[in-house]
Amino acid sequence: MHPFGPEATSAPHPVYAQLREEAPAHEIQLTPTFTAWLITRYDDARRALNDPRLSKNIAGTPIRTGGGWPDELRAAMDSHMLSNDPPAHTRLRRLVSSVFTARRIADLRPDVQRISDELLDGFAGRDEVDLIGEYAFPLPLQVICELLGVPMDDRDSFRQWSNTIIASAMAQGDALAAATSMNAYVRELVERKRAEPDAALLSALVSAADEGDRLTEDELTSLVFLLLLAGHETTVNLIGNGVYLLLSHPEQLARLRADRKLVSPAIEEFLRYESPVKTSTFRMATEPVEFDGVTVPAGAIVMVSLLSANHDPQVFADPERFDPARADNQHLAFGHGIHYCLGAPLARLEGEIAFNGLLDRFPKLRATQPLDELIWRPGALLRGLDRLPVMVN
Ligand code: HEM
Repeated sequence: MHPFGPEATSAPHPVYAQLREEAPAHEIQLTPTFTAWLITRYDDARRALNDPRLSKNIAGTPIRTGGGWPDELRAAMDSHMLSNDPPAHTRLRRLVSSVFTARRIADLRPDVQRISDELLDGFAGRDEVDLIGEYAFPLPLQVICELLGVPMDDRDSFRQWSNTIIASAMAQGDALAAATSMNAYVRELVERKRAEPDAALLSALVSAADEGDRLTEDELTSLVFLLLLAGHETTVNLIGNGVYLLLSHPEQLARLRADRKLVSPAIEEFLRYESPVKTSTFRMATEPVEFDGVTVPAGAIVMVSLLSANHDPQVFADPERFDPARADNQHLAFGHGIHYCLGAPLARLEGEIAFNGLLDRFPKLRATQPLDELIWRPGALLRGLDRLPVMVN
């Protein structure tokens, strides 16, 4: 059974249970000409995510050179920490961490709260809303734009470009046009921040320095791409999938309403149960790598199924049970090792504010249609609903 086919997209957990049972690594046909190895078990997944033999630098491999993208555009999109190994990764992550600090995230709390309040105010007098299009998507998009300092008027264009880029997993056709426009825009924005610095993150990144070291133009543009895409195309699914899980378990929704201390552990359980990033980004085996008797050959592309690892019964007791109070929830939804998600504290902050906002305002929140009829977005990397129509009043 194909893990990214239509059946697995709508009901993935039985498919992954079977794949985990059958083998620790499966060679999957991604396109007619292209395969990747998928790692399915928790212990292997954790090891793979932090194995130096699995390189994140895949520039020059067919998956990157296919699609006819100009080299300059690739360099402007792909020169970020998630496409590099140490020592380049260490340098990029350190420069970015010097300004993307816990303090800066904590200071964002009132802004996230205001953005959430404004969006929920917009539901006044309405019965039915699409929780994805009207809340789960705009909330993180506005937060990341505010964090970076992207002007309000430009945010719609961002939404369109990033949607198009993400929708095309193998990056062809429309995605090329969207990436070209986004690249031109980001370059100009960097110039503007250089000329007129403000208090937001992008200005700080422009001048971020580490012992005289600075981010180059391509590194800056790539980082903005990474932060914009990683910052909202993922968090939308944390919010959407979390609401979906609560609506499909009304007794747990009632439990959360009664005990708000459960919101934080519930967020970890949303991340585990319906992991927003279901598969890691690509890695390349620089030498043969063995997983429990199966050898992935040198040169092969490797992906780690975070969703499958997060349902491994060897690690999670009764993994198909949704339990907002699950103890010791060591899920891999934010990855593991040196590429562990830099935005995890921000995603958790947004989740906390988003779910508390919904619980505070809408005591009658309920689905408008059978939840098993909802449509999940296709694709190999992300797990999220296309729309989530709900009754709010
Ligand atoms: C629920 C929301 C999110 C999830 C599930 C998520 C998940 C992940 C995962 C799985 C990785 C590692 C990928 C790999 O190793 O192949 C990652 C890396 C990363 N994420 Fe997130 N992410 C989320 C939100 C964010 C946010 C809000 C930001 C920034 C504003 C962000 C920025 C990053 C960055 C910069 C990296 C690369 C780190 C590195 O290479 O060292 N993420 N994320």
